[in-house]
Amino acid sequence: MHVISSISEMISTRDKIEGSVGFVPTMGYLHRGHLSLMDAARKQTDTVVASIFVNPTQFGPNEDLDSYPRDFDRDEKLAKDAGVDFLFYPDKQAMYPDGYASYVVPEGPDRHLCGAKRPGHFRGVMTIVLKLFNIVRPTDAYFGQKDIQQARILEQMVSDFHLPVQMHIEPIVREKDGLAMSSRNVYLNPEERKQAVCLSKALFAAKSRFSGGERDAAILIETVQEEISRHSLARTDYIELVDYQKLMPVHTVTSRAVLACAVFFGKTRLIDNIILE
Ligand code: PAF
Repeated sequence: MHVISSISEMISTRDKIEGSVGFVPTMGYLHRGHLSLMDAARKQTDTVVASIFVNPTQFGPNEDLDSYPRDFDRDEKLAKDAGVDFLFYPDKQAMYPDGYASYVVPEGPDRHLCGAKRPGHFRGVMTIVLKLFNIVRPTDAYFGQKDIQQARILEQMVSDFHLPVQMHIEPIVREKDGLAMSSRNVYLNPEERKQAVCLSKALFAAKSRFSGGERDAAILIETVQEEISRHSLARTDYIELVDYQKLMPVHTVTSRAVLACAVFFGKTRLIDNIILE
């Protein structure tokens, strides 16, 4: 595996690659969720490129940019073992040089879920992913369902800007007790970690009501809220049921939909979702 930190070197390296290129953009501190994306890319494409860049423009002023977990040596080894061919690792000055002034903004699909709670977040995500796509020029790109709003907004961007990239959304990878894998799970203290299982437990409880025929969004949301409320350290940020296409709230589930929640444990904000179809 080659580690490349200069943009011009990444561009010239890409120029020489033939065949399909699977790309896994990450902010590092890799876990099994990221590795499953690399695994899918390795199986489906000829060359795998991953990137590690903690993107400052997608963090709000009171968010965890400075404390975001970083461990490049560990990530390098994990990426290599996962079969990544090129690891792109640019620095902030390269991606956002002095005088940088251009951004991509969503119009609509960021109105609910995390977009409503984290103003500017998806502007940062879309901007960095478009920049990375322009540098790496992947044929295929891999994102996790755990960040479903991010994945859908990026799919929309690819479609709206006619980008020649095949998007893949891979299933959520969970810990044994159901907690969705996230780099932010390391922030949890032992008691918070124990209670954090409530997100998946709550969503699975709603899914089983859905499988039993329940289609009323208010009832499905209430089912999630009830389970989360049983956990003393959990503070709900949002629970929403939106349609899969436009990510707008629905009253009744009549087509593919996403039931998603964000819950704080202390300062740590965890997200999870299930797809109802
Ligand atoms: O999901 C992430 O880790 C980030 O939002 C991404 C897609 C790498 C953009 O910074």
